[in-house]
Amino acid sequence: MSETFEEISAGDGHELVVLCADTEAGYRSVIALHSTALGPAIGGARLWRYDSTDAALTDALRLSRGMTYKCALAGLPFGGGKAVILDGGGATQDRVQLFRAHGRFVERLGGRYITAEDVGTSPADMEHVLMETEHVGGLIDRSGDPSPATARGVFRAVQASARHRWGADDLKGRTVALQGCGHVGYHLARELAEAGASLVVADVSAERAGRVGTEFGARVVEPREIFDVEADVFAPCALGGVVNDETLPRLRVQVVAGAANNQLLEARHGDELAARGILYAPDYVCNSGGVINGCRELLGWEPERSRQKIEEIYDTLLAIFRRAEGEGVSTARSADRLAERRLAQAGTE
Ligand code: NAI
Repeated sequence: MSETFEEISAGDGHELVVLCADTEAGYRSVIALHSTALGPAIGGARLWRYDSTDAALTDALRLSRGMTYKCALAGLPFGGGKAVILDGGGATQDRVQLFRAHGRFVERLGGRYITAEDVGTSPADMEHVLMETEHVGGLIDRSGDPSPATARGVFRAVQASARHRWGADDLKGRTVALQGCGHVGYHLARELAEAGASLVVADVSAERAGRVGTEFGARVVEPREIFDVEADVFAPCALGGVVNDETLPRLRVQVVAGAANNQLLEARHGDELAARGILYAPDYVCNSGGVINGCRELLGWEPERSRQKIEEIYDTLLAIFRRAEGEGVSTARSADRLAERRLAQAGTE
């Protein structure tokens, strides 16, 4: 038997963390279930080249926790989980075997975890997962590419931030510095341009940045310059950890609202944004449109129901902004508290 499935104690309040390996399939992963208090843990499977198993573990823990909070604040009957698959194979890796192995480990978890596509994985990979388990979402021709839905949610987050900061949703004449012109960034740029905002964009892919420049009249800057742009809003739609000791003093914006997961490198960076008077729209609220869109597939929702729920990101954020002011804490901490309260309530129902 080439498979191993080892439960480890990771601390950090996670319900279950397992190290999985199938040597024949060249598969190694960490599957982290942060919480199933509100329902089965959902979260994508990320395929990435990690420097070590520890680095993969850290990513899985952070991302699964984020999924729990995201679902709790979106009011969805799901908990948070994440699978990170260590990419060691290169071009010769057999994806069918890799994702069938993933499916077998998901199956072992007996429905406590529902996997899906994420960075480095695709709907086609999920079809291979489906050969071994039913606990998989993000399949071809089901709820479709989540990016436009995610972008719509981020757009609503920008509007809510504008309302809180400047007293009106209207983005006409506002400038947004957008980092990352990929799947979500492109659609967000479109929504912002349609709303009359001016755009300054950057992407490590000159082609992607150029496309947004051409189609939406955006000014394109070098990737390293995006943090220095004088704008009303900074919208990170590329990587995590972009708000950190190095970038914070450079930001010349009044709002940070974007799609990237784990935008704050550390929790204290949320406090520092608040101390500098920059309104931060917590990332896992902004980007919950993707998972809400997935409810069409997972819960059989009508498209209109998902659309409506995504619009509500606006109201959720306004409530968080007000609570943070009342509590005298950063918006990031206030959102965490609200999510934790919902989880605690679920535990006592
Ligand atoms: P993507 O991979 O399509 O786009 C990311 C873009 O960022 C790429 O064009 C890439 O070239 C660019 N990029 C990478 N490093 C950069 C840098 N240093 N400076 C400037 N640009 C850089 O990814 P996608 O799907 O658009 O997601 C964007 C972010 O939103 C990710 O953090 C993702 O985890 C998060 N997210 C995405 C969801 C979705 O529905 N696609 C749902 C929830 C979160």
